[in-house]
Amino acid sequence: MTEQPKIHNVGIIMNGVTGRMGTNQHLVQSICAIRKEGGIKTADGEIIMPDPILVGRNSLKLRELCHTHGITRASTDLDACLDDPQSIIYFDAQTTGRRAEAVKKAIAKGKHVYCEKPTAVSSEQAYDLYKAAKAAGVKNGVVQDKLWLPGLVKLKTLIESGFFGDILSVRGEFGYWVFDGKGQVAPQRPSWNYRKEDDGGIISDMLCHWQYIIQNLFGEIQSVTCLGATHVKERVDEQGNTYRCTADDSAYATFQLHNGVIVHFNSSWAVRVRRDDLLTIQVDGTKGSAVAAPDVEPRCRLRHQVRRRLDTRPGLPGLRQCLQGAVGDVSAACGQGRAVEAYITGGREGRAACGTGYAELGEEGVGGRPSAGGMIGRISWIPDNPLLNLSVPSREVTQGNQKSKCNPAIENCSIVSVVIPL
Ligand SMILES: NC(=O)c1ccc[n+]([C@@H]2O[C@H](COP(=O)([O-])OP(=O)(O)OC[C@H]3O[C@@H](n4cnc5c(N)ncnc54)[C@H](O)[C@@H]3O)[C@@H](O)[C@H]2O)c1
Repeated sequence: MTEQPKIHNVGIIMNGVTGRMGTNQHLVQSICAIRKEGGIKTADGEIIMPDPILVGRNSLKLRELCHTHGITRASTDLDACLDDPQSIIYFDAQTTGRRAEAVKKAIAKGKHVYCEKPTAVSSEQAYDLYKAAKAAGVKNGVVQDKLWLPGLVKLKTLIESGFFGDILSVRGEFGYWVFDGKGQVAPQRPSWNYRKEDDGGIISDMLCHWQYIIQNLFGEIQSVTCLGATHVKERVDEQGNTYRCTADDSAYATFQLHNGVIVHFNSSWAVRVRRDDLLTIQVDGTKGSAVAAPDVEPRCRLRHQVRRRLDTRPGLPGLRQCLQGAVGDVSAACGQGRAVEAYITGGREGRAACGTGYAELGEEGVGGRPSAGGMIGRISWIPDNPLLNLSVPSREVTQGNQKSKCNPAIENCSIVSVVIPL
């Protein structure tokens, strides 16, 4: 008979678990998912099994949650839960303003702590919690979920590979329409978010995310200035009553980092113009730029400075060699791309078909006119084996007594940058 692994049931008090974040992110997608997978295996083959007790005000809601997700324990008495030695971890996803007090209480009872962001609504309160947790010697952590979004992981890889050269600046655009409830579409966020008196506001809600993203990817923050605005003045709450918005729904923040990088983030619960993604982050460096949409589908667009001239032989061999070099530069930094565009300067008007892509010149610098910005065309191709597939029709030209074959579209070009959507 094979020996069963030892299972450690770890009691976790989950408070605020009837809310949006508490139910979806933390109960269903984290704790229930881990339980379904049979817990977490340790290096020595034992198993850690989270054993939650759901805490809240409404016993009916708690019972329903337990029933739906196969949880056996629930309580409306937080103090009693904190007194129970079986539960060694306190988790909090209550509304922001209620967190500091509850976490402090849990620390005083010797519980390890994990909680939603922000930990508090003032720096003093947040620092106070940190000191209390340190003094009590309990393990403590705050949600920093965005760091593991695929696009951000990709950005970090690029930064570490030196792809950007020296990073100069970073621009973040975050935002989506949160409906005001006046039309037929229900608002997607709780109404307390828009009331200062209930500790709402996008500055306290989102800048904590930007803080850990910036510090983990770009450097230590030296200073921040932030302009908040309440663009939508009136909304409708969960009961259908119209209320005045007293908290900021938009934030325009500029961070200066110790290393000289300038980071600007716009955040909004009111606008969404040409934003396919909730969040895009553009990084600009001396050697390259990238725009990452860090959401579920990683979409990353890189522009790498190449500055390579075609070799002296015009036409396909030169182009191929040049592209090979350019793609080599980029793929060394960021791995294999799916489709590549090379931006070209110089050359003359023309259009040439390629095996799996196309080369198109002349849009901006028609007829060989040098274009002011230097960009006159673009080549794109699919790099399954792009360079082998690339075929550009060439023509015969006569120079003095010599006849040679060349392609009118691509002679005398320089590839100045390569763009790879990853
Ligand atoms: N990590 C992220 O990306 C992310 C995203 C959204 C929200 N959040 C954070 O999660 C927290 C919860 O946000 P939400 O959108 O889930 O809010 P929500 O309003 O949906 O849920 C709030 C929870 O607090 C409880 N609660 C409210 N008032 C209470 C009271 N008086 N007494 C006891 N319990 C009370 C509610 O019952 C509910 O369980 C916030 O601090 C927010 O900043 C994090």
